[in-house]
Amino acid sequence: MLHKNLSINEKGHLEFAGVDTTVVAKEYGTPAYLIDENMVLENFKTYQNAMKTHMGEGSKPLFASKALSYTGIYRLISEVGGCIDIVSPGELYTAVNAGFDMSNAFFHGSNKTNADIAYGLKEGVGYFIVDNVFELEEISKQAKDLGITQKILLRVTPGIDPHTHAKINTGKVDSKFGAPIETGMAEKLFCKVMETPNVSLEGFHSHIGSQIFEIEPFSDAARIMLEFVAMLHDKYGFDTNYLNLGGGFGVQYTKDDPQIDYAERIEKLSAEIKEHCRDFGIKQPNILMEPGRSIVAAAGLTIYEIGATKEIEGFKNYASVDGGMTDNPRYALYQSPYTCVLANKMNEKCDFVCTIAGRCCESGDLIQENVAIPEPSRGDILAVLCTGAYNYSMASNYNRIPRPPIIAIRDGKARIAVRRETYADLCSLDE
Ligand code: LLP
Repeated sequence: MLHKNLSINEKGHLEFAGVDTTVVAKEYGTPAYLIDENMVLENFKTYQNAMKTHMGEGSKPLFASKALSYTGIYRLISEVGGCIDIVSPGELYTAVNAGFDMSNAFFHGSNKTNADIAYGLKEGVGYFIVDNVFELEEISKQAKDLGITQKILLRVTPGIDPHTHAKINTGKVDSKFGAPIETGMAEKLFCKVMETPNVSLEGFHSHIGSQIFEIEPFSDAARIMLEFVAMLHDKYGFDTNYLNLGGGFGVQYTKDDPQIDYAERIEKLSAEIKEHCRDFGIKQPNILMEPGRSIVAAAGLTIYEIGATKEIEGFKNYASVDGGMTDNPRYALYQSPYTCVLANKMNEKCDFVCTIAGRCCESGDLIQENVAIPEPSRGDILAVLCTGAYNYSMASNYNRIPRPPIIAIRDGKARIAVRRETYADLCSLDE
């Protein structure tokens, strides 16, 4: 099947991470997100080992927790001594709640408020990834009041267009993130840092986009960044400790996507980085990467129950599920492809072509179109594969629909990691 944590058992049911998904559906209800914790750990360790082996002792991945943020995920990353990328005070709070060592946290965000900065400093965030001069000045001011020096990286844009969906493409010169190298803004920001007290510049960050399968955009971005690093060394005598290349490796949502061997990609990228460093005559900085999707996407799956089925003669068929764009807005937003299967009919012929519709009052509330599944009956369990990234973290309560629980599976045992929202939860903030 699509990923190695998927199989079909003797009952013809879909197994995920060693558990029968129809049994989980009975026990915990639907819709529900399932997270394979063993696979999360394995994927993260793959990055850790490959980066250390090929890019040097100080090189490491930071888990981009915007892909999946709940208390348990920070505990998992903690287990393997990993670092995290956080982008908001909410993610920061969740990591603190997990008991995460915040010196291993890198705090992103293109518009950190004064309160965000105060919170990050109070919790001892290891590194702030500074996006602009306004937050630089505020970090410096607050760090001075606390009598500390805060470590920072500067976010710069290398001007790369990796040809993924425009909304998830962030490294172009006119991006809202960071300071572009091309226009001289990045160098100006660097010069400003050099005269700013109570901050210590450790390096630079770039992120070019997401769901990228080729190695060239990463190599090109690394080259532009290293040229910048070399220029700062020659012109200002500045030594860069860290070069953060962001996240972005793609994952296999359907059979049409290639399957990537991440360790091999890292090895190849590392060879390119070494070559660029040779060309520019500089010592290679420690490399950081920020994988999100490639750590958790395939480690997740969503189960739904089929309700109404409609055959609109001469047009199309619908199979409706008890969730939709509130738990997975990615088709509505980006027309993202997904693989859908009927978990209780895995050995039956897939001859019913239909659109999987959600339950929201909105015609764009679809999970996927033109899906071939066995003829569905009310009560069947539909599984959507590869939903571990940017599903729970982008879920909403539109139409007052409660968010599904996260059922974590570790060593073949399922347990609740995030409980299902109740109707009372929905009203808990209302006066
Ligand atoms: N680092 C930075 C600075 C980022 O902006 C992102 C993603 C990552 C790392 C992680 O990238 P990944 O390895 O997951 O590709 N909601 C969209 C994805 C937005 C990604 C934003 N930044 C989606 O559902 O596809």
